[in-house]
Order: sequence, then structure tokens, then C-alpha cells
Amino acid sequence: MSINSNALSTYKLLKATAEVAEQSLEGRIQHYRAHLKSEDKELRTYTQKAAADLLGVNNRTLKRRHDQGDFDHLHIQKGANGHYAYTLSNIFAMADILGINADHRDLEDKLQVIVINSLKGGCGKTTSLVNLAAALATTNIKRYRIGIIDLDPQGSSSSFFPSSEHDPITVGDLMRDCIELEENETWEQLVADSFQKTHIPNIRILPSGMDDFYFEHETATELKESSSYEQTRHYHKLKERVIEPVKDEFDIILIDTAPSLNFMFYNALMASTAMLIPVHPEAVDFDANNKYLKRLGEIYHTVAALGHEGWDFMQFLVTNYVKGNHSQRDIVKDVRTAFGRQVMSYPINHSSAITASSSSFNTIFDQKTSDSLASRESLLRAQENIKDVVDELEMLIRSNWASTQSSLD
Ligand SMILES: Nc1ncnc2c1ncn2[C@@H]1O[C@H](COP(=O)(O)OP(=O)(O)OP(=O)(O)O)[C@@H](O)[C@H]1O
Ligand SMILES: [Mg+2]
Repeated sequence: MSINSNALSTYKLLKATAEVAEQSLEGRIQHYRAHLKSEDKELRTYTQKAAADLLGVNNRTLKRRHDQGDFDHLHIQKGANGHYAYTLSNIFAMADILGINADHRDLEDKLQVIVINSLKGGCGKTTSLVNLAAALATTNIKRYRIGIIDLDPQGSSSSFFPSSEHDPITVGDLMRDCIELEENETWEQLVADSFQKTHIPNIRILPSGMDDFYFEHETATELKESSSYEQTRHYHKLKERVIEPVKDEFDIILIDTAPSLNFMFYNALMASTAMLIPVHPEAVDFDANNKYLKRLGEIYHTVAALGHEGWDFMQFLVTNYVKGNHSQRDIVKDVRTAFGRQVMSYPINHSSAITASSSSFNTIFDQKTSDSLASRESLLRAQENIKDVVDELEMLIRSNWASTQSSLD
């Protein structure tokens, strides 16, 4: 086959561009790594009052328990001002000492696997996911065991929760079966270890990597060569190879996805128990969302025919909403008229605190108000807003856990 000479020049240009891009990317990754080592990334510390609020006890009780020496073995550090500076791990350990039980699901309650997806790039999937996860983990004393799976090879959510390992195992590595087990190691152990600890003690992340893109190509090739679904089970890989082995270690798994309806996304759907669809309230974005929903229905049909058990909930979440903007308000009205109760009650508002913290890959719950680049008011307002969204999400999640439902008997 002969190649047109102009096409050849285009190809050469693309190759040269790709080389430059690769070098630039490598430089940027090194730069991020230097700044984003998990051992350097620390969650904010809490004052005694904030710790008491989180624990739901009064400040005097905490002081008395300190005086009795009940927390001495925790070696809680003091800040420059001589006051205690509690880490979230300290507070969780204090909760155990105070007899405040963690509020996990029972084994019979269903693990919640929530996928966040939209075909619209930049509509706020990652920002919403990382901030919702941080709020679920840090703004209550329930100690939910939260897993994040970054199914987007761009790795944005992985940057918010950096791994301490130089070359961590990625979700694509596990789905593509390219890791060899060590002697005496089981697949379950390998997968569990691949969910890395993060700076938030009750969040673990299974990161993504650029090579995860190969999953698409490899699956397409595998499909050409196979004669039946059972041979490849290519839509079940995330569920069967990655999630089922660790299902008893988590209460909630949140999955970030790329703006694409690719094989990875089919896997996310097959593994999901619920779906969150962010909608950015701009006309073009809402139109794109409506086209996406038609495709989503078609894709879901395929997944359902292969055994998916249905969602516990599917909710639209208005994101990056500029309060006071009339055209956005009209679109939010249209979204609510169209989808009614399937729209989360509160939008995630556009916030300069979210912009500022995202620029250094922090959630708005990572930093103390005094360390934030945004104003204290804006940070507190954004935190209250995300907490409102999380309250509703938590209710949707817990309504699927029989053990957490109060009974009238
Ligand atoms: N509530 C918000 N307030 C301020 N900025 C926001 C908010 N939500 C999203 N953004 C900004 O919008 C941009 C896109 O957001 P984000 O990366 O979360 O989108 P995404 O849907 O994950 O994108 P992609 O499709 O590329 O994965 C980012 O710069 C982010 O900081
Ligand atoms: Mg993203």
C-alpha cells in the first residue's frame, strides 16, 4: 500500500510532535512527583475544639480524658502555639478510646460502587469526585472505608491522592493482567495492596497510568480473535478482577472516568451499583448531555444483557454552578423540569476556593482555612456546599444498607 506524500509529512509531523509531547509530559510528571509525594502531602490538623466537634463530644470531656492520660499513648503533637494539633488518625484513634464505633456497612449490606461519568469533558467529574470523597471521609466520625478507582488514564484524581510508590500498580495493570504474582502471593492480596494508602486515613486509591490506554487497543484485538463473550469477559474485568477481590475492605468505591464511552467505561458500568452524572449548566453542555443520555441507554442495554443487576440510584449533579448567572439558572430549571427528583437537591457551586485548591491538587478539605489561597469565607462556603451535597449522597447510599436503617419497632 502506498502512502500519499502529504500524508507521510503529516505522519512525520505527528511523530515529532508526539516526541516533544512525551518529553514535556515526562518533565511534568517528574515535577508533579517532586511536589506531590504522598509522604509530603499532609491532611490539615484539627484544633481541640474542631476535634471535639467531629467526635461529637464536648471540649471539656476531651480535656478531662487528656488529663487522665487516656490519649497519652497516641503521642499527639502540639503546634507552634503549644496547643494540640490533632491529625485525623489521632481523632479516629480517640473515637475508638471513647467507644464511638465506626459506622461501616454490615457484610450483608451491598458495597456501593458509584461511577461518575459524562461524555462532556471538563464538566467537573474529577473535581466533584475528589471533593465528595474527601467530605465523606473527613467531615463525620463514621470512618467510612472509601476506595477511589481512577479509570481515566489522564490520572487527574490520582494526582489529588498521590501514591507513595514511584511506580504504583494501576487499575489498567490489573485489568490487563500484566502483573505477575510473587511466590505465595494471592491475586486478592495483590489487588488489596494495589489500593494505596493516601493522606486521608480512610481513603485508598487505585491509581491510573498512561499505559492504561492500551486496555482499549488490547480489548479490541482480543475481541477480534475470540468467538464468545465467555472467552474474554471483557466487560467484567473491573468487577471480577479488581472489585470482587477487595469487596469486604470498603463501604463505598467511587470511580472516576474519562469523557469517553470506551471499553473502560463499559467495565465501570458493569461494576457499578449507582451512577452520578455531572451536568455543567451551560447550553452547549446540557445539549451534549442529552445526546450522551441516548448513547448511555444503548450501552446500558448491552451491559444489562450480560448480567448487570441495575442501579440503586442514578442522579444528576449540577456542577460548577455560578450563582446569580441568569442563563445558568434557566438551564438548571430545565434540568430539574426534565429529570425531577433524579437531580441532586444542591448543585456544586462554582467556587474560587475549589479553583485555588485544585490548582495544587488539593481538595477543599485538605487544607486549613489559614493555608488556603482563597479567602476564609470562600473556603467555608464551599465546604458547607459540598457537605450539603454529601448529606444527600450519604442518604442515598445508606438507604441500601439494611443494617443502618432505623426501625419503628
Ligand atoms: N465547583 C467548581 N468551582 C470551580 N472550578 C471548578 C468547579 N468544578 C470544576 N471546576 C474546574 O473546571 C475544570 C474542569 O473540571 P474537572 O477536571 O473536574 O472536569 P472533568 O469532567 O473531570 O474533566 P475531564 O473530562 O477532562 O476528565 C477544572 O479546572 C476545575 O478546577
Ligand atoms: Mg476528570
